[in-house]
Amino acid sequence: MNQLLISASILSADFWRLGEEVQAVCQAGADLLHLDVMDGHFVPNLSFGPPVLQHLKGRAPRPLDVHTMIENPGEVVQAYAELGTWTLTVQVEACLHLQRVLSSIREAGMRAGVAMNPHTSPEFLKYVLDDVDYVLVMSVNPGFSGQAFLPSALDKIRRVREIFGPRSIRVGVDGGVNPTNAARCVAAGADVLIAASAIFGRPDYAAAIRDLRGA
Ligand code: DX5
Ligand code: ZN
Repeated sequence: MNQLLISASILSADFWRLGEEVQAVCQAGADLLHLDVMDGHFVPNLSFGPPVLQHLKGRAPRPLDVHTMIENPGEVVQAYAELGTWTLTVQVEACLHLQRVLSSIREAGMRAGVAMNPHTSPEFLKYVLDDVDYVLVMSVNPGFSGQAFLPSALDKIRRVREIFGPRSIRVGVDGGVNPTNAARCVAAGADVLIAASAIFGRPDYAAAIRDLRGA
Protein backbone atom coordinates (compact mmCIF):
# COMPACT_ATOMS: atom_id res chain seq x y z
CA MET A 1 0.00 0.00 0.00
CA ASN A 2 1.23 3.48 -0.89
CA GLN A 3 1.88 6.08 1.74
CA LEU A 4 -1.23 8.16 2.46
CA LEU A 5 -1.21 11.60 0.82
CA ILE A 6 -3.27 14.60 1.92
CA SER A 7 -4.18 16.87 -0.96
CA ALA A 8 -5.37 20.31 0.18
CA SER A 9 -8.04 21.79 -2.07
CA ILE A 10 -7.57 25.55 -2.22
CA LEU A 11 -11.21 26.01 -3.22
CA SER A 12 -11.95 26.95 0.40
CA ALA A 13 -8.86 29.14 0.81
CA ASP A 14 -8.99 32.91 1.24
CA PHE A 15 -8.35 34.03 -2.35
CA TRP A 16 -7.44 37.52 -1.20
CA ARG A 17 -4.29 35.91 0.19
CA LEU A 18 -3.87 32.99 -2.17
CA GLY A 19 -0.06 32.87 -2.08
CA GLU A 20 0.05 32.99 1.71
CA GLU A 21 -2.66 30.34 1.97
CA VAL A 22 -0.74 28.00 -0.35
CA GLN A 23 2.43 28.45 1.67
CA ALA A 24 0.60 28.02 4.98
CA VAL A 25 -1.16 24.81 4.00
CA CYS A 26 2.06 23.29 2.63
CA GLN A 27 3.95 24.24 5.75
CA ALA A 28 1.13 22.69 7.77
CA GLY A 29 1.87 19.32 6.17
CA ALA A 30 -0.20 19.02 2.98
CA ASP A 31 1.47 16.62 0.54
CA LEU A 32 -0.24 17.93 -2.60
CA LEU A 33 -2.12 21.03 -3.71
CA HIS A 34 -5.50 20.12 -5.15
CA LEU A 35 -6.64 22.67 -7.72
CA ASP A 36 -10.31 22.51 -8.71
CA VAL A 37 -10.71 23.95 -12.20
CA MET A 38 -14.39 24.62 -13.06
CA ASP A 39 -15.84 26.11 -16.21
CA GLY A 40 -19.46 26.95 -15.34
CA HIS A 41 -20.62 24.34 -17.88
CA PHE A 42 -19.58 20.88 -16.73
CA VAL A 43 -20.38 22.09 -13.22
CA PRO A 44 -22.51 25.10 -12.29
CA ASN A 45 -19.61 26.86 -10.62
CA LEU A 46 -16.69 28.77 -12.12
CA SER A 47 -13.38 28.80 -10.25
CA PHE A 48 -9.99 29.46 -11.86
CA GLY A 49 -7.76 28.27 -14.65
CA PRO A 50 -4.30 28.87 -16.10
CA PRO A 51 -4.30 32.70 -15.73
CA VAL A 52 -4.57 32.30 -11.95
CA LEU A 53 -2.61 29.08 -11.61
CA GLN A 54 0.38 30.39 -13.54
CA HIS A 55 1.21 32.36 -10.39
CA LEU A 56 1.85 29.06 -8.62
CA LYS A 57 4.27 27.88 -11.29
CA GLY A 58 7.69 27.32 -9.81
CA ARG A 59 6.53 28.77 -6.47
CA ALA A 60 4.14 26.22 -5.01
CA PRO A 61 6.10 24.11 -2.50
CA ARG A 62 4.14 20.93 -3.31
CA PRO A 63 3.14 19.09 -6.50
CA LEU A 64 0.04 20.35 -8.30
CA ASP A 65 -2.88 17.91 -8.30
CA VAL A 66 -5.14 19.54 -10.91
CA HIS A 67 -8.76 18.33 -11.01
CA THR A 68 -10.57 19.63 -14.09
CA MET A 69 -14.36 19.81 -13.98
CA ILE A 70 -14.65 21.25 -17.46
CA GLU A 71 -15.99 20.26 -20.85
CA ASN A 72 -13.49 19.17 -23.50
CA PRO A 73 -10.53 18.74 -21.13
CA GLY A 74 -8.47 17.28 -23.98
CA GLU A 75 -8.10 20.79 -25.35
CA VAL A 76 -6.24 22.16 -22.34
CA VAL A 77 -3.70 19.40 -21.71
CA GLN A 78 -0.78 21.42 -23.06
CA ALA A 79 -1.70 24.50 -21.02
CA TYR A 80 -1.56 22.48 -17.79
CA ALA A 81 1.69 20.81 -18.77
CA GLU A 82 3.21 24.26 -19.15
CA LEU A 83 2.15 25.14 -15.61
CA GLY A 84 4.27 22.31 -14.26
CA THR A 85 1.25 20.20 -13.28
CA TRP A 86 2.12 16.89 -11.63
CA THR A 87 -1.17 15.05 -12.11
CA LEU A 88 -3.89 16.20 -14.48
CA THR A 89 -7.29 14.67 -13.79
CA VAL A 90 -10.22 14.77 -16.17
CA GLN A 91 -13.82 13.81 -15.50
CA VAL A 92 -14.75 10.67 -17.43
CA GLU A 93 -18.18 12.17 -18.17
CA ALA A 94 -16.48 15.03 -20.05
CA CYS A 95 -14.43 12.75 -22.34
CA LEU A 96 -15.81 11.28 -25.52
CA HIS A 97 -12.44 9.62 -26.15
CA LEU A 98 -11.08 8.95 -22.68
CA GLN A 99 -8.15 6.75 -23.69
CA ARG A 100 -6.93 9.38 -26.13
CA VAL A 101 -7.11 12.14 -23.53
CA LEU A 102 -5.32 10.05 -20.90
CA SER A 103 -2.49 9.17 -23.24
CA SER A 104 -2.11 12.80 -24.32
CA ILE A 105 -1.71 13.75 -20.64
CA ARG A 106 1.12 11.26 -20.25
CA GLU A 107 2.70 12.29 -23.53
CA ALA A 108 2.74 15.86 -22.21
CA GLY A 109 4.79 14.65 -19.23
CA MET A 110 2.12 14.52 -16.53
CA ARG A 111 0.47 11.71 -14.60
CA ALA A 112 -2.97 10.86 -15.95
CA GLY A 113 -5.94 11.02 -13.59
CA VAL A 114 -9.60 10.22 -14.15
CA ALA A 115 -12.44 11.31 -11.86
CA MET A 116 -15.97 10.00 -11.81
CA ASN A 117 -19.21 11.47 -10.53
CA PRO A 118 -21.13 9.72 -7.73
CA HIS A 119 -23.60 8.08 -10.15
CA THR A 120 -20.93 6.88 -12.61
CA SER A 121 -20.08 3.20 -12.58
CA PRO A 122 -16.34 2.47 -12.24
CA GLU A 123 -16.52 -0.43 -14.73
CA PHE A 124 -15.20 1.75 -17.60
CA LEU A 125 -11.82 1.57 -15.86
CA LYS A 126 -11.39 -2.03 -17.11
CA TYR A 127 -10.83 -0.59 -20.57
CA VAL A 128 -8.18 1.98 -19.62
CA LEU A 129 -6.18 -0.01 -17.05
CA ASP A 130 -2.82 0.77 -18.61
CA ASP A 131 -3.55 4.44 -19.24
CA VAL A 132 -4.35 5.63 -15.72
CA ASP A 133 -2.08 6.67 -12.83
CA TYR A 134 -4.72 8.12 -10.52
CA VAL A 135 -8.43 7.48 -10.00
CA LEU A 136 -10.52 10.08 -8.22
CA VAL A 137 -13.74 8.82 -6.68
CA MET A 138 -16.06 11.78 -6.23
CA SER A 139 -17.93 11.55 -2.94
CA VAL A 140 -20.05 14.62 -3.74
CA ASN A 141 -21.51 15.97 -6.96
CA PRO A 142 -18.67 18.18 -8.12
CA GLY A 143 -18.93 21.94 -8.19
CA PHE A 144 -18.68 23.16 -4.63
CA SER A 145 -16.76 22.60 -1.45
CA GLY A 146 -18.55 22.09 1.84
CA GLN A 147 -20.99 19.38 0.72
CA ALA A 148 -21.81 16.23 2.68
CA PHE A 149 -19.89 13.00 1.98
CA LEU A 150 -21.90 10.39 0.04
CA PRO A 151 -21.17 6.98 1.65
CA SER A 152 -21.73 5.14 -1.67
CA ALA A 153 -18.18 6.26 -2.51
CA LEU A 154 -16.79 3.62 -0.12
CA ASP A 155 -18.00 0.62 -2.14
CA LYS A 156 -16.81 2.33 -5.27
CA ILE A 157 -13.29 2.78 -3.87
CA ARG A 158 -13.22 -0.94 -3.04
CA ARG A 159 -14.37 -1.81 -6.56
CA VAL A 160 -11.71 0.45 -8.13
CA ARG A 161 -9.03 -1.40 -6.13
CA GLU A 162 -10.45 -4.74 -7.27
CA ILE A 163 -10.44 -3.65 -10.90
CA PHE A 164 -6.78 -2.58 -10.78
CA GLY A 165 -5.63 -5.58 -8.72
CA PRO A 166 -1.88 -5.47 -8.10
CA ARG A 167 -1.30 -2.54 -10.47
CA SER A 168 0.21 0.43 -8.76
CA ILE A 169 -2.20 3.35 -8.98
CA ARG A 170 -3.31 6.05 -6.61
CA VAL A 171 -6.96 6.19 -5.57
CA GLY A 172 -8.21 9.50 -4.25
CA VAL A 173 -11.50 10.41 -2.64
CA ASP A 174 -12.84 13.91 -3.10
CA GLY A 175 -15.75 15.65 -1.44
CA GLY A 176 -16.85 15.96 2.16
CA VAL A 177 -13.78 14.13 3.45
CA ASN A 178 -13.23 14.84 7.15
CA PRO A 179 -11.71 13.14 10.21
CA THR A 180 -14.98 11.25 10.79
CA ASN A 181 -15.01 9.40 7.45
CA ALA A 182 -11.29 9.46 6.55
CA ALA A 183 -10.52 6.10 8.20
CA ARG A 184 -13.33 4.39 6.30
CA CYS A 185 -12.02 5.85 3.03
CA VAL A 186 -8.52 4.54 3.72
CA ALA A 187 -9.83 1.14 4.83
CA ALA A 188 -11.73 0.92 1.55
CA GLY A 189 -8.50 1.53 -0.37
CA ALA A 190 -8.08 5.29 -0.81
CA ASP A 191 -4.50 6.54 -0.51
CA VAL A 192 -5.11 10.20 -1.37
CA LEU A 193 -7.52 12.20 0.79
CA ILE A 194 -8.65 15.47 -0.78
CA ALA A 195 -10.10 18.08 1.51
CA ALA A 196 -11.04 21.74 1.31
CA SER A 197 -13.34 22.68 4.18
CA ALA A 198 -11.94 20.11 6.61
CA ILE A 199 -8.62 21.99 6.32
CA PHE A 200 -9.35 25.62 5.41
CA GLY A 201 -12.47 25.68 7.58
CA ARG A 202 -10.31 25.34 10.68
CA PRO A 203 -7.99 27.95 12.11
CA ASP A 204 -5.10 25.51 12.61
CA TYR A 205 -4.29 23.83 9.28
CA ALA A 206 -1.59 21.62 10.79
CA ALA A 207 -4.03 20.20 13.34
CA ALA A 208 -6.62 19.70 10.60
CA ILE A 209 -4.15 17.77 8.43
CA ARG A 210 -2.95 15.73 11.42
CA ASP A 211 -6.55 14.82 12.22
CA LEU A 212 -7.14 13.61 8.65
CA ARG A 213 -3.93 11.61 8.56
CA GLY A 214 -4.40 10.21 12.04
CA ALA A 215 -7.98 9.14 11.47
C1 DX5 B 1 -15.71 19.51 -5.50
C2 DX5 B 1 -14.21 19.58 -5.60
C3 DX5 B 1 -13.56 19.21 -4.33
C4 DX5 B 1 -13.87 20.20 -3.21
C5 DX5 B 1 -13.78 19.50 -1.91
O1 DX5 B 1 -16.25 19.74 -6.72
O2 DX5 B 1 -13.74 18.71 -6.59
O3 DX5 B 1 -12.17 19.05 -4.48
O4 DX5 B 1 -12.99 21.29 -3.23
O5 DX5 B 1 -14.31 20.33 -0.93
P1 DX5 B 1 -14.73 19.75 0.49
O6 DX5 B 1 -13.55 19.03 1.04
O7 DX5 B 1 -15.10 20.97 1.27
O8 DX5 B 1 -15.88 18.86 0.23
ZN1 ZN C 1 -11.57 18.26 -6.57
